Amino acid sequence: MACGIGLSLLNPQVIRYFIDTAQADGPMRHLVWAGVFFLGIGIARQGVQIVSSYLGQDVGWRATNKMRNDLAYHCLNLDMGFHHAHTPGEMIERIDGDTTSLSNFFSQFVLQVIGSVVFLAGVLVLISLEDWRVGAALAAFSCVAFLVLNLTRNIAVPIYTAERESYARMYGFIEERLLGLEDIRTNGAIDYAVQRFHNVNNNVFARVKRSELMSEALSAITGVMFALGYALAMGMGIWLYNEGTFTIGAVYLVFHYTSMLREPLFQLSRQINELQRATAGLKRIEALHRIETSILDGTEHLSRKTGSEPLGVTFDHVTFSYNPEEIVLNDVSFSLQPGETLGLLGRTGSGKTTMTRLLFRLYDIQSGDIRIGDQSIGTLKLDDLRRHVGLVTQDVQLFNATVRDNLALFQPDIADDRIVHTLGELGLGAWYDRLPDGLDSEITAGSSGLSAGEAQLLAFTRVFLTDPGLVILDEPSSRLDPATERHINVAVERLLEGRTGIIIAHRLETVERVDDIMILDQGRVQEFGRREDLVRDPASRFSKLLQAGFEELIA
Ligand SMILES: Nc1ncnc2c1ncn2[C@@H]1O[C@H](COP(=O)(O)OP(=O)(O)O)[C@@H](O)[C@H]1O
Ligand SMILES: [Mg+2]
Repeated sequence: MACGIGLSLLNPQVIRYFIDTAQADGPMRHLVWAGVFFLGIGIARQGVQIVSSYLGQDVGWRATNKMRNDLAYHCLNLDMGFHHAHTPGEMIERIDGDTTSLSNFFSQFVLQVIGSVVFLAGVLVLISLEDWRVGAALAAFSCVAFLVLNLTRNIAVPIYTAERESYARMYGFIEERLLGLEDIRTNGAIDYAVQRFHNVNNNVFARVKRSELMSEALSAITGVMFALGYALAMGMGIWLYNEGTFTIGAVYLVFHYTSMLREPLFQLSRQINELQRATAGLKRIEALHRIETSILDGTEHLSRKTGSEPLGVTFDHVTFSYNPEEIVLNDVSFSLQPGETLGLLGRTGSGKTTMTRLLFRLYDIQSGDIRIGDQSIGTLKLDDLRRHVGLVTQDVQLFNATVRDNLALFQPDIADDRIVHTLGELGLGAWYDRLPDGLDSEITAGSSGLSAGEAQLLAFTRVFLTDPGLVILDEPSSRLDPATERHINVAVERLLEGRTGIIIAHRLETVERVDDIMILDQGRVQEFGRREDLVRDPASRFSKLLQAGFEELIA
């Protein structure tokens, strides 16, 4: 940067020498050398500029990549409630968009601002060396210009913030509509969705317009101020020439230097603009960082002696609600011995899925205690807890990645033969053999090319690979046809061997082999007991269900 500035300041001196030498009928040789020197400086300056931009960008991206990682990690650990409240599109804009605006800031700002200030100072010093009065006048002018620019700074920040926010909303909107494309299409709502999109776009447009206008206004202010400075230098130069103090070369030099004030002043105003954008981004990033999860990580390790030992579960007077108005689980107590399987029944909305979420501490309970083994889950390290509890739901989320990554969930240290072996055990051997590139075959997002049963079995494989001590199956087969379901049931049995299990079921066959039955009704335990006892007791709700058929339960 120093080199670049030095070279830029040197060039007008060469021109001044050229003009004065030419005017004094100096030797041709000197003029030619001055020209060569001038060109050499110009080329060297370009080289220096490339190097300094490269270094600036390098610092900028390194810093913001680190920031982006930190922020992404932070957000991934925030409460589910936070993620329900923010669309993925909005998160993308906040994590990537805001940090990108900072990257420009990091890579350019320091370079440009310090560069411009030093450059400005250099120009003023060199002008002063010609004549201190011109130097003083232009220095005063530069100060005023800088102050005016600074004053406009705070006006613009909220406008830029609003612009960024409207972008975040737009991305959120697009993302949500694309996710719901099938529903939108089948309901014939495309035109309406597009119409709403127009509104969102218009909102972005209005805000961008405002912020662009603001930025133009700031530029205009710099422009007008610059024109005044130009007139000032020109007037003083002519006056000093008439007085006989300046040669034509000196007038030219001052004039040229003054025109060189334009660049740093514009850069400063642009960078102050950037600073405003970056401040807006930084404020939003800070606000995001300040949001804390209410789920605090525990300190204890899960004690599981042999590593493959099943884990018992106890709910002790558990009460939970997502929001204060509606209690979802009300004083739920039960205990499941290690290695046993619980069949969990209940109407839709009775709180079954909620119970599974609580076991993973996706939410914290309001009162009571949940224990795994004999440790309260609140005291356990979250990583530990989640590694030892497995979950399969009816929505299998497959990623646009290789089969290996989909099964090992991006964990690199699971051996290939273990994955292949597990696939074989779960009856996916034939499917695996058909894959073109084995475990390296790509699965496209949305699981096209996979049947629902296969997708479900892949989810089982995932859980198998982590070897959990407690497995939860949330209506895993409710979307499958009976033939596939039988296939799945074999896999379920394998999965539950030597593990504690909770099966949330819709069909009778699913709970045929469980040890305990629990019926949940509006967040309360309506019935809990050994399956065989309940079957034998004609007064039990479960045996009534067996007679009346399960449909009554689901209805
Ligand atoms: N993320 C959530 N935020 C607020 N309420 C929820 C949330 N998830 C579920 N609920 C409510 O909690 C109750 C129980 O839901 P859920 O556990 O999914 O029932 P089930 O799995 O038995 O069908 C329902 O009334 C549902 O509306
Ligand atoms: Mg459910």
